[in-house]
Amino acid sequence: MEKKENNMAKKKPWEGRFSKSLDKDVQEFNNSISFDKKLASYDVFGSIIHVSQLSKVGLIEESESALIIKYLTQIKADVEQDNITFLDEFEDVHMNIEHILNTRMEEDGLLHIAGKLHTARSRNDQVALDTKLYLKDCTVKIIETIKLVISAIDGQIEDNQGVRIPGYTHLQKAQPILLSTHLNCWQEMLKRDVKRFKNNLELINYSPLGAGALAGTTLNLDREFTAKELGFAGVVENTMDSVSDRDYVMDFCSACATFMIHLSRICEELILWSTSEFKFIHIDDAYATGSSLMPNKKNPDVPELIRGKSGRVVGNLTSILVIMKSLPLAYNKDMQEDKEIIFDNEKTVIQCGFILSKFIANITFNLEKLAQDTKSDFISATYIVDELVAKKVPFRDAHHIVGNIVKYCNDNNKDLWDLTLEEAQNFNPHLDRDMKTILSKYYK
Ligand code: ARG
Repeated sequence: MEKKENNMAKKKPWEGRFSKSLDKDVQEFNNSISFDKKLASYDVFGSIIHVSQLSKVGLIEESESALIIKYLTQIKADVEQDNITFLDEFEDVHMNIEHILNTRMEEDGLLHIAGKLHTARSRNDQVALDTKLYLKDCTVKIIETIKLVISAIDGQIEDNQGVRIPGYTHLQKAQPILLSTHLNCWQEMLKRDVKRFKNNLELINYSPLGAGALAGTTLNLDREFTAKELGFAGVVENTMDSVSDRDYVMDFCSACATFMIHLSRICEELILWSTSEFKFIHIDDAYATGSSLMPNKKNPDVPELIRGKSGRVVGNLTSILVIMKSLPLAYNKDMQEDKEIIFDNEKTVIQCGFILSKFIANITFNLEKLAQDTKSDFISATYIVDELVAKKVPFRDAHHIVGNIVKYCNDNNKDLWDLTLEEAQNFNPHLDRDMKTILSKYYK
C-alpha cells in the first residue's frame, strides 16, 4: 500500500496558482517533513476532531465525516507503528498526512470526500495545534524525569541521616550544615522546576484550532467543541493570536533552560566533591571513565557532560527568543524553526535527568572525610560567637573576640579545637571551658 502511495503523482494543495514547479533546492530548504513528522499522530488526532466538528455543524454530511475518520484512524495506527512513508514533495507533516488520506480514499473512489477535510482550516492553526498537543505530552514526560532525580536524592538523604558536610559561601568553608540540608536544597530547585513546567501546562491549554490562516472563517465552526474534544480548557479567542503566538514554545524552552542550569549546579558540586581535593564522594566505577594516557585517572564524565549540555539548552532558549523577536503578525515561516529546538530540548533534558538520577543513586559519601572537614579550618567559629551571645556578650563584640581567636590560632599554627581553657579565657572570661568541650555539643 505504501509503495503505491509513493508512486502516486499527486499535486500539492497550493499548486493551483503556480505555473512552475518548485525548484528542487528550494523544496529541500523549505521542507520540514524530515523533522516535523514527529508531530504526525497529533496531526491526525487534530484532523479527526476537526472533521467530526464539520459534520456536527452541518458543513459536511455525517456519513462523510465517518468515512474520513475511518481512514484517519487507520493512518493514525500506521503512524504509531511507524508504517508510513513521508514524501519530501509534500513539504510538511500536515500536507503529507492529507496526501496519504487523499491517496487512500482515492483508491476507494472517495477522493471527493477526502477533499472536505481541510474545510475552514489552515496549516497555520494546524501547526499551532500540533505543537501545543506535542508540548503538553512532552512536558508531562519531563516532569516525570525531574521527579526521578528528586527521588534519587531522597535515597541519599535517607542513607545519610545526621551526616554533616561543610557549607560554603564564595567556595570558602563557611559553616557546617547537615548533608540532608544541602541535598534538599537541590530538591527544592527541582521542585520549582516541576511547578514551572506545570504552570506552562496551564498557559498552553487553549486551542488555536478554528482560527484558519489568521482571520477565522465565515463558516460556522464550533471551536469550543473541538477545544474540549482535543483536551483543552478553552479556545484562544483572538484568531491572529491563535496562529502567531509561540509564547508556549518560549516558556517551554525557558523552563528547560532553568532546569538544566539547576542540573549544571548540581553537577558542578558532584564534580568538585569527587576531586582528590574534596574527596567528599566516591563515584561508582560504572559511572566514571578513565584516561587513555594517565592510568591514575577516573573522570566524572557524566556530570561534566550534563553541565556541558546545559549550554546547548540555554542556546535553544536564545534561538527561539531571537526567532520570535520583531516578527510581524501573524504567521511567518520563521516559526518553523521552533520544531528542532523543541525536539532537541526534549531529548537532551530527558536524557540528562534520567542519567543524573542513576548517577546520584550510585554515589557514596566519604563519611570520614566529611567528619574531618566539618571541624577543620575554623568552620566552627560561628558556634563560639553564639556561645558568647548566649552569655549576653553583644554580637558585634562576640564576633570581634572570635575573630581575634581565629587570628591567634592562625598565627600560632593551632587548630581552634585545640585551644586550652587558659588560652580561651585570655580572650573572654565567658569562655569557661576548653574549646573541645565547648564545640563538641554542636556536633551531637
Ligand atoms: N511547516 C510549517 C511550520 O512548521 C507549517 C505551517 C505552514 N504554513 C504556511 N502557511 N506555510 O510552521
